[in-house]
Amino acid sequence: MKVLEGKRALVTGVANRWSIATGIARRLHENGAQIALTYQGDRVKDEVDKLAGELSGAPTFECDVSNDASLAAMREALLQRFGTIDALVHSIAYANKEDLAGKVFETSRGGFSLALDVSSYSLIALVQSLREALADNASIMALTYLGATQIVPNYNLMGIAKAALEAAVRYLAFDLGDRGIRVNAISAGPIKTASSRQVGGFARILDVVPKVAPLRRNVTPEDVGNMAVFLASDLASAVTADVHFVDAGYHAMGLFALG
Ligand SMILES: NC(=O)c1ccc[n+]([C@@H]2O[C@H](COP(=O)([O-])OP(=O)(O)OC[C@H]3O[C@@H](n4cnc5c(N)ncnc54)[C@H](O)[C@@H]3O)[C@@H](O)[C@H]2O)c1
Repeated sequence: MKVLEGKRALVTGVANRWSIATGIARRLHENGAQIALTYQGDRVKDEVDKLAGELSGAPTFECDVSNDASLAAMREALLQRFGTIDALVHSIAYANKEDLAGKVFETSRGGFSLALDVSSYSLIALVQSLREALADNASIMALTYLGATQIVPNYNLMGIAKAALEAAVRYLAFDLGDRGIRVNAISAGPIKTASSRQVGGFARILDVVPKVAPLRRNVTPEDVGNMAVFLASDLASAVTADVHFVDAGYHAMGLFALG
């Protein structure tokens, strides 16, 4: 029997085949979960429907997390066409490109609100909207990055948003713990996607990791998906309120050994 047999997972944040959410959805599906996807807007609908076809025809639901009406409509459609969920994957972030380079003190009030709304508050908004749709003992996970707690030049405003997201993970874990619902963050190493390409100098980050990380390689969306399978499964029955690194060990380095 597959480890996620009988579990239903809602995966947000699939935009294209390079999205981390796509790798996660694939791994969850391979391990027995029934998948539903949300996507943002008509621009990506065809691509997401195509990917859903490869996941046993997973239903897809439009959802803009910055819009309460869109969240409510998604919940209704989800409950009608898919039912309650045992796993929820938050794989969503956005900041204006000018806030992913330069100086943090140049960040505008509007840019800050937008980034924090879409990248951090959205986890709270999703839980608020879907709390009745979440089964007891469900697993919620959100994607984060080392830049939440360490300085990663150019990550800037997104680092601040990820810090808020990681704090939200802990508080939500406390709020939902009485229902056995677990909430965790997965801190992924750098992966080339539409979003990460917006970060200034991102290609250089991808170059550094294989030179210095313990595993001497970058990670893939499927590596991240493997952690998602564990967190969604009953094997992680007492694992909550934490940040789990899937970054080939990079975060643990204190000094980059040369040569
Ligand atoms: N790529 C990396 O190096 C990396 C590393 C660590 C963490 N992450 C995180 O992984 C997650 C997924 O990013 P990705 O790299 O796969 O890029 P991606 O561009 O493929 O995914 C980002 C997703 O966010 C969605 N989104 C943006 N605004 C939205 C809104 N208002 N409503 C609904 N959806 C919205 C986009 O549609 C897209 O599907 C993000 O949280 C990102 O910060 C990425």
